[in-house]
Amino acid sequence: MAEFLSTFITGFQDVVKADLEKRFSNIKILNLFDGLVHYKFDGDSRQLEKINYFNNTFFVLKTMKGKGLNFPSLVGALCSGKGYFLVNKGSFRVRFQNENQFAKVDKNLTRRVEEYVLRNSKLKLDRLSPTNEIWFCIRREGFAFCGELISHREFTEKNLNKGELRPEIAYLICSYAQLSEGAVVSDPFCGYGSIPIQLEKRFKCSKIYVSDIDKEKVDLVSKKLGVVPEPVEGLDQKEALRQAQGPHNGTQGPHDGAQGQQIDLRQSDAFELAHIPDNSLDAIVTDPPWGLWENIPDIQDFYNKMFMSFHRVLKPQGTMTILSARTTELEAAASAQGLKIQKSLHTLVNGKKATVYHLSS
Ligand SMILES: C[S@@+](CC[C@H](N)C(=O)[O-])C[C@H]1O[C@@H](n2cnc3c(N)ncnc32)[C@H](O)[C@@H]1O
Repeated sequence: MAEFLSTFITGFQDVVKADLEKRFSNIKILNLFDGLVHYKFDGDSRQLEKINYFNNTFFVLKTMKGKGLNFPSLVGALCSGKGYFLVNKGSFRVRFQNENQFAKVDKNLTRRVEEYVLRNSKLKLDRLSPTNEIWFCIRREGFAFCGELISHREFTEKNLNKGELRPEIAYLICSYAQLSEGAVVSDPFCGYGSIPIQLEKRFKCSKIYVSDIDKEKVDLVSKKLGVVPEPVEGLDQKEALRQAQGPHNGTQGPHDGAQGQQIDLRQSDAFELAHIPDNSLDAIVTDPPWGLWENIPDIQDFYNKMFMSFHRVLKPQGTMTILSARTTELEAAASAQGLKIQKSLHTLVNGKKATVYHLSS
């Protein structure tokens, strides 16, 4: 079986391992580190390119473990054997990375690798704009590898709205929630819809309640999901009809998700959620405000009210999976409400430290 290595967002290694083992029966995880998985995969490598949470994926040429790893010994280990390259046409250059930073090395070392690649493949050397790259990486865990970069994800932050989660983070947060098939789930702070879009595309929920206090965002999510928002309670009939005819351009039925889920989308205050019956949700997966850009005078009080509202709508065994950078305030509010933090992981969202919590009553 060929060996591969893929990088992904910090903190999610256990989620990634579980997800890969669920997707593929022909995978064997060899090493798992923060933000990196090394595995054997007996399938078409193009399948790996479709995994949305992978940043870089490498075809492994050599790995080493131990203390004091260095580039000369890694290059020596590679060049002492015969090479096989997965992508064998086009051009290449060689790069060196130490603890996630590109590093300069002696020219002779680079030259040695270039000659090795030229001898063992049909690739041509192009140091400026190659179609292919060979990387040598040394990690702080005492692990080093040399690999052929076979796929590379462009970061998409510039295409996102302020506060909008990248799709792969939203997907990993939903996976962390460990939703059971047929679960009734809500995202009551849906924003631009990153979490509900992943729930709808990739998780077999039976019903998804999607809401936000901001009508403009609800209208945008309506377009993305192709779902007509429910009219806001207390509106007269004419306004309710106008809203239902809305700006959405959905082609699906008003309540159909991609996998047949019922979707209830509406403008609603997360402290009220009057449209959700008591004890009816299996899970809440959400990204509430962090009080960093919005004017929320007391974020702990905000989280207290949020938890009280969630307590009403969740079943007794229901769970909450919540992303926040305001860890002190969120943990204090959870403790004040007698909630248990079942697990948590630390990650980075747009360069900011944040934590994903999985809580229950
Ligand atoms: C961090 S953003 C969510 C971002 C979202 N995950 C995304 O990817 O676009 C928090 C959202 O909470 C909404 N919000 C603030 N206070 C609210 C409240 N009381 N009830 C419901 N939504 C609220 C804001 O309008 C904002 O869209």
